[in-house]
Amino acid sequence: MIVLEGKELEISYGERTIVRDLDIEIEKGEVYTIIGPNGCGKSTLLKGLSRCKKLDKGEIYLSSNNINKYNSKEVAKKVAILPQIRNVPGDIKVKTIVGYGRYPHLGIRNHLEEKDIKTVEWAMKKTGVIELKDREIGTLSGGEGQRVWIAMALAQKTDILILDEPTTFLDISHQLEVLELVKELNKELGITIIMVLHDLNLAARYSSRIIVMKDGQIVVEGIPDEVFKENVLEKVFGIRASIMHDEIHNCPFFIPINKNNKKIAV
Ligand SMILES: Nc1ncnc2c1ncn2[C@@H]1O[C@H](COP(=O)(O)OP(=O)(O)OP(=O)(O)O)[C@@H](O)[C@H]1O
Ligand SMILES: [Mg+2]
Repeated sequence: MIVLEGKELEISYGERTIVRDLDIEIEKGEVYTIIGPNGCGKSTLLKGLSRCKKLDKGEIYLSSNNINKYNSKEVAKKVAILPQIRNVPGDIKVKTIVGYGRYPHLGIRNHLEEKDIKTVEWAMKKTGVIELKDREIGTLSGGEGQRVWIAMALAQKTDILILDEPTTFLDISHQLEVLELVKELNKELGITIIMVLHDLNLAARYSSRIIVMKDGQIVVEGIPDEVFKENVLEKVFGIRASIMHDEIHNCPFFIPINKNNKKIAV
């Protein structure tokens, strides 16, 4: 079942068109990762899909209904987005930030009720940040902070979760921790995930489907084995690579090769 669909999308900043003539279909229960070079329009596409950025052309459908039928609170009850750039003053408490996730569910008094506080606690427990709830966000490590942001998106209680680079600035152990959490949210709660990652090997390992973008368009979409091909990586990233098979996780992985055909460290 398609839960989110974009048709003939065009998105610009001023005169500059970033996303052009792009069609995308998101199936329920899958984990999608968008990969592509810096500046190719990944974040712009995610902002457009979650209606955080206006489209120049095209239509977006949420569970087959045109997204324009919904007001912003209704959209936020269905799709949560964790943007790439998250600026808040460092002295805001963790529990307050996670509480922001409840915003679309609040009544006209904009006040967290008992059930909202329970959901906030649930989200903090699920992401392992409950012990940090009274800490100020500015005092947390990168990995802790990242989990707090995911808790905020989780508290929104949506069926679709969009995560723009949830692993940036994290060491490998914390990258794995965040991606294991994403996997658990997908498996246990059935949340459909759309994320952006730059590490192609982690993308191959943690995604059921990969969307490859270049110059504001989708080059190819499919299961990791279909997408991770030498010619695709050459076309999109301009690199030569050897594609191998990861026996442990049963997914492809790649090793970039330099011009002299010598293998270089990943
Ligand atoms: N607010 C903005 N105003 C003007 N141009 C913008 C704005 N945001 C992004 N752009 C431009 O749009 C293009 C696409 O940006 P976008 O952030 O979507 O890329 P991206 O694929 O997410 O890149 P990255 O991998 O570096 O995050 C870039 O050239 C960028 O400079
Ligand atoms: Mg981006």
